[in-house]
Amino acid sequence: MEPRPFLEIDGLAKRFPAPAGGAPLTVFEKVSFDIAKGEFVCIIGHSGCGKSTILNILAGLDEASEGAVIMDGTEVSGPSLDRGVVFQNYSLLPWLSALKNVTFGVRARHPDWSKEQVLEHSYKYLEMVGLTQGAEMRKPSQLSGGMRQRVSIARAFAIQPKLLLLDEPFGALDALTRGTIQDELIRVWSGSDQTVFMITHDVDEAILLADRILLMTNGPYARVAESVVVDIPRPRNRAEIVHQPGYYEIRNHLVDFLAVRSREMAGSDKGNPSGMNRPVTVRPALDGGEEDPVEGPGTDNVFSIAR
Ligand SMILES: Nc1ncnc2c1ncn2[C@@H]1O[C@H](COP(=O)(O)OP(=O)(O)OP(=O)(O)O)[C@@H](O)[C@H]1O
Ligand SMILES: [Mg+2]
Repeated sequence: MEPRPFLEIDGLAKRFPAPAGGAPLTVFEKVSFDIAKGEFVCIIGHSGCGKSTILNILAGLDEASEGAVIMDGTEVSGPSLDRGVVFQNYSLLPWLSALKNVTFGVRARHPDWSKEQVLEHSYKYLEMVGLTQGAEMRKPSQLSGGMRQRVSIARAFAIQPKLLLLDEPFGALDALTRGTIQDELIRVWSGSDQTVFMITHDVDEAILLADRILLMTNGPYARVAESVVVDIPRPRNRAEIVHQPGYYEIRNHLVDFLAVRSREMAGSDKGNPSGMNRPVTVRPALDGGEEDPVEGPGTDNVFSIAR
């Protein structure tokens, strides 16, 4: 028997009841996919399709209307220190300094650690995001948006969760800081067996970071329609990756999905010929020709699309 995947997302739907005089809203439905242990998965889709809602359900902070999330064989219900979240609005505890926002989680994670151990560990992650030399003593209201986002990243990384859930974690950062923290994220992730699920709007960022990119159709009735395998070898480097074979095939595939297919496939099972709920695995062909079926992680129906 195949081992169970680390994370199983099975038939998730999110529906909102009808407001007075209106119709009920199904944001997404039939969302099913697996994530293997140690995998780095990005999800892309247009605004409002339900990405943050899915991430919050994975975190145990929101409830699905239907379906289940199983992590390590146990159904997710409620938050856990095994899942670290960087929220889209980088919500921090406003009455605590940046440092205490980080130590708070570390102390919860390691109740047996001394004060010094907690501080040393927390500072390691604050340094990683470039927030030391006094900035760590400021409260969130005294920090810029980008600095708050960096505190939020340090806080999530410092608890070294099994699953990192990142909701556009680099959105508020300037290009230089974003590059540095992307590199740190990859360094932290590749030296661990952590699994990452990350929302981004940036296709280049997704290709740089991910093993696999999930593509969501537009809502309402949004679905995860495709799972695009990024088979570009690691370590990857921002400047070099664009010269890698397959880079532009993958990029064009993503851009084409966002521009055209996300709308065309919206609200139906179009493009999912098996009629199953799982995303179709796509591997934009490296050689531009062959159409051999390929094995992709966590999917049942597999296609190779030569573009
Ligand atoms: N209480 C609510 N009642 C009705 N609809 C809601 C409610 N809360 C959220 N929604 C809808 O759920 C949808 C999904 O929201 P979500 O924040 O998950 O989208 P998203 O994909 O993360 O978008 P973005 O890229 O803009 O962050 C939106 O269309 C939103 O209008
Ligand atoms: Mg969102």
